[in-house]
Amino acid sequence: MSDHELRVSKIRDGTVIDHVEGGQALNVLAILGIDGSEGYGVSVGMNVPSDRLGRKDIVKVEERELSQSEVDVLSLIAPEATINIVRDFEVVEKNRVTRPDSVTGVLSCPNRNCITNAGEPIDTRFDVVADGVRCDYCSTILRSDIADYIDV
Ligand code: CTP
Ligand code: ZN
Repeated sequence: MSDHELRVSKIRDGTVIDHVEGGQALNVLAILGIDGSEGYGVSVGMNVPSDRLGRKDIVKVEERELSQSEVDVLSLIAPEATINIVRDFEVVEKNRVTRPDSVTGVLSCPNRNCITNAGEPIDTRFDVVADGVRCDYCSTILRSDIADYIDV
């Protein structure tokens, strides 16, 4: 796309989460715990044309970098995402997300009878499997609704 057609402005400093599967941008914001009240500059492009994905979403957060656990959870809903760190208008770092083998302490289990919901001091742990993530304790599988169970 030429600068001509840019839909979302470039940012000076912050993080651009690019190549997000179309329709997942609001879930990306949920994962980052951003609802606008924090004061960060946030730009969201939805269903932007993309050579690689057909349509993609893009999320730009100014003055903010991501933690590894945030990136781990992001990879579950946006496996093709690229995380770009921008400083003084330049992309200084670009990383594809990679799916972790498991995520600990970032998702809650939807099963009310799961030991992780019993008020015990136990971190949740989900193994990443082909069709979603599976609770280590009760084997409940979360699929497309992973974002609803984020606890970070
Ligand atoms: N970007 C931005 N602000 C900047 C620099 C880049 O918002 N100051 C955005 C671009 O709009 C793009 C993403 O960050 O969505 C990555 O920028 P860049 O690496 O320059 O683009 P591409 O080469 O197209 O990236 P890729 O190869 O990952 O598709
Ligand atoms: Zn469970």
